[in-house]
Amino acid sequence: MKQKQLEFIQGLPKVELHLHIEGSLEPDLLFELAKRNQVSIPFSSPQEVQAAYQFNNLQSFLDIYYQGANVLIHEQDFYDLTWAYLLRCRQDNVVHTEIFFDPQTHTARGIGFDTVINGIDKALKQGKEELGISSQIIMCFLRHLDQDSAFETLKQALPFKDKIIAVGLDSSEEGHPPQKFTEVFQTAIEHGFLTVAHAGEEGPAQNIDNAISLLGVSRVDHGVRCVDDPKLVAELIAKRTPLTVCPLSNIKLNVFETMAEHNIVELLRQGLCVTINSDDPAYFGGYMTANFIAVAKALPITNKELMALSFNAIEASFICDTEKQKLREKVEQYGNKDAKL
Ligand code: ADE
Ligand code: ZN
Repeated sequence: MKQKQLEFIQGLPKVELHLHIEGSLEPDLLFELAKRNQVSIPFSSPQEVQAAYQFNNLQSFLDIYYQGANVLIHEQDFYDLTWAYLLRCRQDNVVHTEIFFDPQTHTARGIGFDTVINGIDKALKQGKEELGISSQIIMCFLRHLDQDSAFETLKQALPFKDKIIAVGLDSSEEGHPPQKFTEVFQTAIEHGFLTVAHAGEEGPAQNIDNAISLLGVSRVDHGVRCVDDPKLVAELIAKRTPLTVCPLSNIKLNVFETMAEHNIVELLRQGLCVTINSDDPAYFGGYMTANFIAVAKALPITNKELMALSFNAIEASFICDTEKQKLREKVEQYGNKDAKL
């Protein structure tokens, strides 16, 4: 990759649609919060925490990720976590972000739903005011738990409905297909929430189909295994159903062995509405810019195609048309400036 393309990526206005806020907990902050909250962790330094971040699949990552979340207790902790992520967004020219949180990871430990959402929301509001970064919140149900627990979580979310744009589905895909959550998603839709779901990350293409037909999702998180079903690919193209792809995550969790084998550029060139996202950047080795760079280093991609990834993310975002248009203009202006250089 040329140095010029690296600089282009750095400055490119970006939109992130697949980010687990708990997955942005850096070893330094994890260590600091463990001390502050007197939570015992089996590490004596942030370096030791970092060294423990070795995974070979989704489940081995999730086991460590849920442990890490134990240090988050007070509203201030959720605020600090979110604010640290927003500062990284500023560095990477992320102009809009839609973030996931996993309420059950916290409520199961006796942390109030309000504690979690208020801490996140406070930081996001400040992010808009002080950094000019707009945002939305998506609440995910943990699919390894049962539907009753998801219903209970939905009930807890209702008083905070104005702060949550959509519900999602994450955690272990294997053995927990979308159809396990059909009713709770239908109820969420009746309450006015949009829906998304992780599907086709480790699981089969059928999960993508089912997420669309049974959970009514507006976009699919990951979805890279759609290639196993050409008819599904044709439908995704025809309907412009967005896929929130997470390149570095896919390599760390062995969804693809190497970035050179990743299918994101192939999917983009076929006409799918694919986007680049960081998933759990503290665990997978990089935020938005790092994900774009990793793709551009391993795969042939033009600056125009890099811009198309930003345009796709704007199209796929949960903001109004006026806001989308403003963001499109930002990317266009950036492209025009580059063309003149
Ligand atoms: N929770 C956090 N990151 C996840 C991922 N990549 N897949 C499923 N659940 C997750
Ligand atoms: Zn994810």
